[in-house]
Amino acid sequence: MLRKNYRIAHISDTHITKHGQFDESIFNMGLEALDSLSPKPDIVVHTGDLTDNGILPDYELAMDKLKSIRYRYIVAPGNHDERNYGHSIFKEMLGPLDFEKDEEWAKFVVLNSPEPDRDEGRLGRRRQIYLEEVLGSTPPGKLKVVVFHHHLVPVPYSGREVNVLEDAGDVLEIVLQNRVDLVLMGHRHVRHAIRIDETVLVNAGTFSCIRTRGRFLQSFNLIDISADGTVKVTEVDIRTREERVLKCFQKV
Ligand SMILES: [Fe+2]
Ligand SMILES: [Fe+2]
Repeated sequence: MLRKNYRIAHISDTHITKHGQFDESIFNMGLEALDSLSPKPDIVVHTGDLTDNGILPDYELAMDKLKSIRYRYIVAPGNHDERNYGHSIFKEMLGPLDFEKDEEWAKFVVLNSPEPDRDEGRLGRRRQIYLEEVLGSTPPGKLKVVVFHHHLVPVPYSGREVNVLEDAGDVLEIVLQNRVDLVLMGHRHVRHAIRIDETVLVNAGTFSCIRTRGRFLQSFNLIDISADGTVKVTEVDIRTREERVLKCFQKV
């Protein structure tokens, strides 16, 4: 049981660049929307594709933009961040590609699902073992939150399914066996929330990429976890700041 309510702002797929699919004005509007949230988020989680091409000018611009986020934040690498040997700059500017972050109320495990110059994702056996170890040593009473870029289950409204994690079956089994509370993902540019057993799986749409799908425009998610275990997932439309509740999951 948590001692109070917590809020995660879940953003993804910013695709920051000077030469491509980045809409800077939407990004700035998104930052303003984050700034004006009430209640404020306890943490911002970015589920990858921070940059569009993984090149040095993209990362430099991205690091400059990230300075405007006034909350603590963590970033998972996406397949676009891995392009052009981009993971070396990610490591240099943001830190390790796989890591854990301890909050008083939650354990975040961030995993590097992309591989260099491929759109497909996989965690592989080494990260699966790491994930099991971290989850197994998380003290009871802390939320377990797993974060990576590629999706673990298919996302509707996002076209032909080609990029689900290659080892999704094994990873899903680890997630369910360890009663993970939340899995946060991106990649598809469509928001989605679903529960399997006791685990809520959430995808964020794109925050500031021009490559949207149908009428799913740029947005981010708010995930409100109540002390009674309820998890509410809300999408915030960046243009209108309209908040739409996607799902509200009562404690199982
Ligand atoms: Fe993306
Ligand atoms: Fe992606």
